[in-house]
Amino acid sequence: MDIAGSAALVTGAASGLGAATAEALAARGATVYGLDLEKAVAAAGDLPEGVRLIAADVTDEEQVRAALAEADADGAELRLAVNCAGIAPSARVLGRKGPHDLDLFRAVVDVNLIGTFNVMRLAAEAIARHEPDAHGQRGLVVNTASIAAFEGQVGQIAYAASKAGVAGMTITAARDLAQYGIRVVTVAPGIVDTPMMAGFSEEIRAGLAASVTFPQRLARPEEYARLITMVAEHDYLNGETIRMDGALRMAAR
Ligand SMILES: NC(=O)c1ccc[n+]([C@@H]2O[C@H](COP(=O)([O-])OP(=O)(O)OC[C@H]3O[C@@H](n4cnc5c(N)ncnc54)[C@H](O)[C@@H]3O)[C@@H](O)[C@H]2O)c1
Repeated sequence: MDIAGSAALVTGAASGLGAATAEALAARGATVYGLDLEKAVAAAGDLPEGVRLIAADVTDEEQVRAALAEADADGAELRLAVNCAGIAPSARVLGRKGPHDLDLFRAVVDVNLIGTFNVMRLAAEAIARHEPDAHGQRGLVVNTASIAAFEGQVGQIAYAASKAGVAGMTITAARDLAQYGIRVVTVAPGIVDTPMMAGFSEEIRAGLAASVTFPQRLARPEEYARLITMVAEHDYLNGETIRMDGALRMAAR
């Protein structure tokens, strides 16, 4: 599909992978509607030209509908939705203080899996309203899993479960949306240098970098964003989860 001239919805766009993706899509001529939590939108600095941030919680049907309605009211033709919003708290199944907090597990699944699904279904409805291109394609949804979907480390039980759910939705969502000419692709990043990783000490970050097969460094948000533009432009990629991890296979800890 052509990125230039289309509208794109990017969740988690105030930070990290979402911000880099919003910038890359806008640089290629898309009008980008970035969704993020109210506090993140309020704290966001100057935005690249072509990017607008809207406060919305991805788990909230009405807030996501309202954000999509804003794009529609602008006359923008939504073609692409990229789900980057996510959270990654850490806790073990059974820790020193007892079993994993059930509400914490629910909260992670709510944002990472149900939030992704909520945006995918509502964005698909918006994309399906537009005319297809000459190849019958209306657009695509790109979701973000993690290699923790396949090799969750100690303390990643809720995160791994939520991301395995995102990866698991991919083929069935691609099948469901094929009749509308909408592709669904998931990206499973390894370790990317974003604010989500900023909480770790230099020592831990160096250890993480050393664990990557090649290149032996953390991935850059721009590399994720470039993959999103590649996926958008590659019409034959569909129903697949793509690892972007420098051949990293995560160890238990
Ligand atoms: N950074 C990594 O190494 C890495 C690796 C694999 C997967 N991922 C995934 O990539 C995605 C982006 O991660 P990041 O590193 O850019 O994180 P980040 O913390 O920098 O950005 C995530 C953004 O999502 C927003 N968000 C959180 N909950 C939300 C909600 N309910 N509604 C709307 N917005 C919400 C946050 O406010 C934040 O701006 C996440 O899904 C994460 O799990 C990241």
